[in-house]
Amino acid sequence: MIKHTPPMGWNTWNTFAKDINEELILSSAEDLIAGGLHQCGYEYVVIDDCWALRERDGAGRLVPDPVKFPHGMKYVADYLHARGLKLGIYSCCGAMTCAEYPASLNREFTDAATFAEWGVDFLKYDYCFKPLSLEGKALYRRMGIALANCGRDILFSGCSWGADNTHEWIGTTGANMWRSTGDIFDHFGSVKELIKKQYDILPYGGVGCFNDMDMLIVGMHGKGNVGLGGCTDDEYRLHFAAWCLLGSPLMIGCDIRKMDDTTRAILGNRELIAIDQDERGNRPFLFRQWGNDDLPIIVRILGNGDLAVGFFNLTDETANFWITEDDLGVPSFSGKRLTGKELYSGAPAPIVNETLIERVPAHQCRVYRLKVQ
Ligand code: GLA
Repeated sequence: MIKHTPPMGWNTWNTFAKDINEELILSSAEDLIAGGLHQCGYEYVVIDDCWALRERDGAGRLVPDPVKFPHGMKYVADYLHARGLKLGIYSCCGAMTCAEYPASLNREFTDAATFAEWGVDFLKYDYCFKPLSLEGKALYRRMGIALANCGRDILFSGCSWGADNTHEWIGTTGANMWRSTGDIFDHFGSVKELIKKQYDILPYGGVGCFNDMDMLIVGMHGKGNVGLGGCTDDEYRLHFAAWCLLGSPLMIGCDIRKMDDTTRAILGNRELIAIDQDERGNRPFLFRQWGNDDLPIIVRILGNGDLAVGFFNLTDETANFWITEDDLGVPSFSGKRLTGKELYSGAPAPIVNETLIERVPAHQCRVYRLKVQ
């Protein structure tokens, strides 16, 4: 399956790791719908690592752990499909998954057929235990071919953490999204690191194969598997806005059944989601305020001709940001001007003397959608 905008959904790993089961999946799916996030575009419910038994069955097939998934995976898929959602599952190109469950090395065609039979719509494919003697790109192509021939549209989500120059070959594998970095953790240092790792690979993404900056930590508040102290709500706002401006898939990672209103408002910010999901899929470009890597200004030209501009203060002090309309591609001799608003506060974009200018506190962002008039 190919999605022409970055896939959106929820994934079990960030909060629950191995503590997953049918009840958690189905109740989270219900909350995704009841809380309005499904209507915002979140549709994939992805069961990450630790869903299987440690041994394959006599026919060499993967077996869902019957204690965690007493009715099997087809039941889960049918339940989600009946509600307009899609099922994602997880495997790995090595002999074992990262948590040491059986994985798909040399079983690619069997596993793709099994997933198709269950009604799976999405496969996250990891990189642990890849034999040194085999190339990751060859193993990913093998799974890409297996999925393309399994008789069901299954979205291929690569997760090789940017290793082995993933950006150079991932587009040849059939993957629709690719993880460009190592794992996210729920603290601001991790968000900052993942954003800065994008600077050199901005051209490698977009329609066809989206650059996946990893699951969101918005709303985790230090709880769960990758909880490492947590972030403030302003830091979560910055994190979400950066993922949207950079066009990453948006996979919620918190416990959606216990989400507070602020978290729901961040994840459900339709104007930011519209930037992430912009169908034209233009790549973002980058300026560095004062030449500082920790003060990125990220810009995207949107499909309707608007500009999305984000000021991101990754430093620990308040910073002044500015960028001229000329820098943004709208010189004054064009007779055109930019006007618009900030997308969290709704405040008018502060444009003075043909310059978008604002003072931004530490660990905060300002994101504007600007019209050319
Ligand atoms: C790797 C991936 C994570 C998660 C775990 C599961 O670390 O990068 O996203 O899937 O494996 O074990």
